[in-house]
Amino acid sequence: MPDITTTYMGIPLKSPIIASSSSLTNSVENIKALADNGVGAVILKSVFEEEIVIEMEKNMNKMFSENHLYPETMEFYANDDVEDILSSYLRLIYECKKQTDIPIIASVNCVTADNWTDFAKSVQDAGADGIEVNVFSVPSPDEEGNGKEGNYLEILKAVKNEVTIPVSIKIGKYFANIPKVITELSENGADAVVLFNRFFSPDIDIDKMTLISSNVYSDPSEYRLPLRWTALTSGKIDADLSATTGIHDGKTVVKMLLAGAKTVQIATVLYKKGFEYVNEMTFELEQWMQKHGFETLDQFRGKLNQKNVSNPAGYLRFQFMKHINIK
Ligand SMILES: Cc1cc2nc3c(=O)[nH]c(=O)nc-3n(C[C@H](O)[C@H](O)[C@H](O)COP(=O)(O)O)c2cc1C
Repeated sequence: MPDITTTYMGIPLKSPIIASSSSLTNSVENIKALADNGVGAVILKSVFEEEIVIEMEKNMNKMFSENHLYPETMEFYANDDVEDILSSYLRLIYECKKQTDIPIIASVNCVTADNWTDFAKSVQDAGADGIEVNVFSVPSPDEEGNGKEGNYLEILKAVKNEVTIPVSIKIGKYFANIPKVITELSENGADAVVLFNRFFSPDIDIDKMTLISSNVYSDPSEYRLPLRWTALTSGKIDADLSATTGIHDGKTVVKMLLAGAKTVQIATVLYKKGFEYVNEMTFELEQWMQKHGFETLDQFRGKLNQKNVSNPAGYLRFQFMKHINIK
């Protein structure tokens, strides 16, 4: 069997297929089942900046002025009746680390670097192997120039100041210059950049004439967006890239690795096909490697990124010109 082990942000993984942050990664039982079915790591469901700020204010004296948040004292939470969101989250990290052997990456969904970043330290103390910061920030017309880039860097720096575990930033796709944002995040210490955040998109109910939430699940065709930007930036930055959105089978995992992704993150297929499907995706990856004579992921990772392809314009203009000139 080919060797599909890898590292992600310096953390050793058994597989490049990671269970992405979602409501499925919110319990020890699910995370154990995901580990049993072969995921390389799990990104826990996000805790929200707003939740952190509110709960921190409520529990300031009880939790944070005492020294309860170190692994050896986390047992405190097992018998504690404080069932607030933050202590549950820290206990989830602690229990997952105790009951599984895969890396556990915490996730925070935020819009600012204000008043919540202390919590990153608590996450580290609870035993998390890394932290993924999901910046949910949609540009508005009253912002100058490129909009939110400064905000992303500010959040990254604030979190890096709090922790020594690796930090990844899950970014949105609404930037004037995506490669520049990815490069700047890497230069400012991001251990990985996750492409892309999937903002819940609004839809319109034309009978009730109200805004409604559209389908939250991805379509397989959506993988091409992270594929392009992974291929355009991998090999040119120090940070790892993790691709997410529309990765629904093993073939697409192969494509992302060829484009230069260090790992991939999946959610929709876990909802639609169950956790066992990870075995199938893994098998497809291994079969493809065998067919092409690759023993390790490093032998082909990034082989088709823009830096390595013979015609780098292929990722930009050339294919488009060829396509529209077909008679
Ligand atoms: C029901 C659902 C809940 C999600 N919750 C989160 C979340 O809490 N934090 C986060 O960063 N991403 C969340 N996501 C986004 C996923 O982590 C993932 O990046 C996205 O769905 C793209 O992957 P996919 O195409 O495999 O679904 C969620 C996705 C779904 C479908």
